[in-house]
Amino acid sequence: MSAEKIALVTGANKGVGLATARQLAERGLTVLLGTRDAEKGASAATELAEDGGSVRPVRIDIADAASVREAAALAERDYGRLDVLVNNAGMLIRKPAVEVTAEDMRPEFETNVFGLVRVIHAMLPLPRRSRSARIVNVASDSAMFAKTTEPGSMFARSHESFVYSATKAAVNMLTVKYANAFLDDPELAHIKVNAVTPGYVATDLNNFNGVRATEEGARASVHWATVGDDAETGGFFSDEGPMPW
Ligand SMILES: NC(=O)c1ccc[n+]([C@@H]2O[C@H](COP(=O)([O-])OP(=O)(O)OC[C@H]3O[C@@H](n4cnc5c(N)ncnc54)[C@H](OP(=O)(O)O)[C@@H]3O)[C@@H](O)[C@H]2O)c1
Repeated sequence: MSAEKIALVTGANKGVGLATARQLAERGLTVLLGTRDAEKGASAATELAEDGGSVRPVRIDIADAASVREAAALAERDYGRLDVLVNNAGMLIRKPAVEVTAEDMRPEFETNVFGLVRVIHAMLPLPRRSRSARIVNVASDSAMFAKTTEPGSMFARSHESFVYSATKAAVNMLTVKYANAFLDDPELAHIKVNAVTPGYVATDLNNFNGVRATEEGARASVHWATVGDDAETGGFFSDEGPMPW
């Protein structure tokens, strides 16, 4: 097994994902830069490679099972394992809670929740073969019951993130359930899986209204992607430490 670590970051052509890919490459990992648009992937990979990173674009649309299977087959064929998987790709559609229909909920659940499970399920044979694998699931502050139930808080009053918040709360629960399942399976117990929140980061997702830079937003993902074997699993963290659920 080669000494270099192999990482896959989804949604890595821009925003927090691109900054995460850059920081992992700066730490010496070989980064498979996952994007659903091949051209955007190629230009982002070129940008990071110019800075000296070992980066390769990989097409992966997490809402498309065939695309996810193809990406897993490529990683299997060329590397035989994955040491790091950052489930970063995500989307937000704003619509007031009282106007949301069940149909309106499908795109965000398809990407943020089903897409994440689709990727983990297809990729799992690869971290299984790593000596010490890490999976990072990118959730959100808006996933937190602790903040959403705080009367008058920004989170209690952000009615337009109705579906998004529910998808990210699901991501948190799935993270805990995966962590428990891995711990109970001797072949998977070396995989640590944690959820992170990047904070409120200026990206396309929020029309660049966020207050943090993408470099800051990537820190929690990079930390939990590269933690040692004595680290926790099944937690939820910002770059400042544990977050309430
Ligand atoms: N920005 C924030 O304040 C904030 C706060 C909390 C959590 N987050 C989370 O952080 C993660 C990154 O978001 P961001 O802020 O960096 O947003 P962003 O700039 O909009 O980036 C989102 C990325 O996800 C990709 N993506 C969306 N659907 C996809 C699909 N079906 N398959 C593959 N890739 C897909 C996008 O690709 P395209 O370019 O092709 O659309 C893009 O690369 C998301 O999970 C988001 O929910 C962000």
